Amino acid sequence: MGYDSDLSFNYFGPTKIIFGVDSSKDVEIEMSSLGGTKAIVVTDKGIIDAGLLEHIKAALGNKCVGIYSDIPQDTGVEVVDAGAEYARKQGADIVISVGGGSVIDTAKCMCILLTEGGKLRDFNGIQLLTRPQIPHLVIPTTAGTGSEVTTAAVIMDKEMGQKRLLVENHNVPRLAILDPKMTAKLPKLLTAGTGMDAMTHAVEALHSIQHEPITDGLAVHAIRLLARHLPTCIENGSDLVARGQVQIAATLAGWAFGNALVGIVHAMAHSIGAIAHVPHGLANGILLAECMQFNIESCPESYALVAEAFGVRERGMDDMAAAEAAVESMRAFTKTIQLPQRLSEVNVKEADIEKAAELALGDGSIVNNPRFILDSSEVLGIFKNVL
Ligand SMILES: [Fe+2]
Repeated sequence: MGYDSDLSFNYFGPTKIIFGVDSSKDVEIEMSSLGGTKAIVVTDKGIIDAGLLEHIKAALGNKCVGIYSDIPQDTGVEVVDAGAEYARKQGADIVISVGGGSVIDTAKCMCILLTEGGKLRDFNGIQLLTRPQIPHLVIPTTAGTGSEVTTAAVIMDKEMGQKRLLVENHNVPRLAILDPKMTAKLPKLLTAGTGMDAMTHAVEALHSIQHEPITDGLAVHAIRLLARHLPTCIENGSDLVARGQVQIAATLAGWAFGNALVGIVHAMAHSIGAIAHVPHGLANGILLAECMQFNIESCPESYALVAEAFGVRERGMDDMAAAEAAVESMRAFTKTIQLPQRLSEVNVKEADIEKAAELALGDGSIVNNPRFILDSSEVLGIFKNVL
């Protein structure tokens, strides 16, 4: 992969990673290493019902001053405000999130309110903070969003009728504990969907106009690990080696797209998610190969790296031939992991894709796409191919 002589970039990824089976039992030691003495644990009812919080509560003992678990699948402004108020009353000096993207993003925003005061609607914009926030320790229970290492949080604001995006370098989680046991009970469809979210983060970081050598390296290894280990997680969810490698891949992809950003696949997944409530990972998984086909002339070098990561670049293949092999591999991969192949399988209707195509054109991610998009009919064409 070549880079221009005027290449320049910033790379930011300060989160410390602790990895290992049963590493979540060390939560109290790690919390103390961050200077935390009174922890508020942010989680959701599904995690509690699955029994994933018991050993964490036991490890924290009386250093846990409260558990905030009123978090819906798509978190909201009021959820954050109420959580921060509760944490303040309990005197928390560290936030520990145990959950998926919605839980982690709620905890990120609670850290801001606990440090700066006020309500979430007081923070309108990105990179507003001027000092580090109270520490946030993350224990992810899905492997996909990468939120444990990114500066972004997405929170629904029903009054505004859209999701708020907060991006703050001063609020990136300080530490993430990746314990494969924490994802071992994820059902197949959620494993496949969240895994394809990570895969999409990696591919989009590679094809983004903001890609650079560090994010390329992270993304390629993330794809390699996902290609090899995600199918094993679908076949045998309790395989802790495969679960662990997929967790690592999701974190690598998080660092990659947290810096290089994402493109048309996320723009379309966001819009079809908003209009037809398609879960984010499933939407990405259904759209990814088709969007790669759409972009292929603009970034064959990037997709040739995808082919290398999948192990399908044969000797003598030029970049375009390798890129075509990458698209085919991606299509086959989504079948291997038993992902729905068409949007109609997840209740999307013809009228939905017309609205979604318009909406995608206004999504912030689309500006990073390697192929410039002139109007919504091009986006609609991609939607139609996978309806
Ligand atoms: Fe995503």
